[in-house]
Amino acid sequence: MSNGDGNSSFSEITKKVTKKGLSGRSYKTKAGLTKKPKKMRGRKLSSQRWLTRQMNDPFVSQTHERGLRSRAAIKLEQMDDKHKFLKPHINIVDLGCAPGGWLQVVAKRCRMDAGIGRLVGIDLLDTEPVNGAYILKGDIFDENMIKEIKSYLNGYADIVLSDMAAATTGHRLTDHLRTMSLLEAALDFADDVLSDSGIFLAKAFRGGAEKSLLTALNNKFEKVKHLKPPASRVESVETYLFAKGYVGANKSEKSKN
Ligand SMILES: C[S@@+](CC[C@H](N)C(=O)[O-])C[C@H]1O[C@@H](n2cnc3c(N)ncnc32)[C@H](O)[C@@H]1O
Repeated sequence: MSNGDGNSSFSEITKKVTKKGLSGRSYKTKAGLTKKPKKMRGRKLSSQRWLTRQMNDPFVSQTHERGLRSRAAIKLEQMDDKHKFLKPHINIVDLGCAPGGWLQVVAKRCRMDAGIGRLVGIDLLDTEPVNGAYILKGDIFDENMIKEIKSYLNGYADIVLSDMAAATTGHRLTDHLRTMSLLEAALDFADDVLSDSGIFLAKAFRGGAEKSLLTALNNKFEKVKHLKPPASRVESVETYLFAKGYVGANKSEKSKN
């Protein structure tokens, strides 16, 4: 399935998975062929649903086949395929980088192995090394970590990415607020390091607290969009905020001219 260049077609993969199935038996449902894991007994209903969904998800199999560390890597590829922001020789920060799927995509697409641009990732969790990336283990709220990232980047970044998500509690509002506070921290950081015309791409959840953030983004960037890549599940409240053309506090001044 992998064609070695990391650009397998999604429809091709979907067809193969739904026609032939993975291991395990296939069942005909309204939606077509569905695979079910063999050992369901003793598992909670939520865990049965999760397993069935994983087995039938073409992006999960693609992740494994291509040696990507996360399904999220495919979301970043899809967003970049459409908006073409990953370019060689730029400085990029990846906030919430573990297990390293986004780092893999950025390192490859921005040719970090050439040693011209700089890529730095940070996460609370361990991240296995990725060729061309400098990886820190720590908290985005820790000032010392911020200093270290800035010093590695010689003070500036062209792109700030954030796929940070807080561990879920199951309480929707709490989870939403936690993720939004990570998003705010990411934006503060971006405001500190982005160069003129820089780009900010960050995970968000659809919901109330987002409005004030959107206003802040609109004040700091020329264009702000919501992105929902095909690999982001339709039923998920996850969305990505894509802001380009960083103008910082100068936006109103610029638009006057
Ligand atoms: C969805 S995962 C990121 C997946 C990653 N983009 C990839 O492709 O491998 C979200 C990550 O955010 C990290 N995170 C949450 N809060 C954080 C914080 N305060 N500082 C740094 N990382 C954080 C979590 O530890 C988790 O690994």
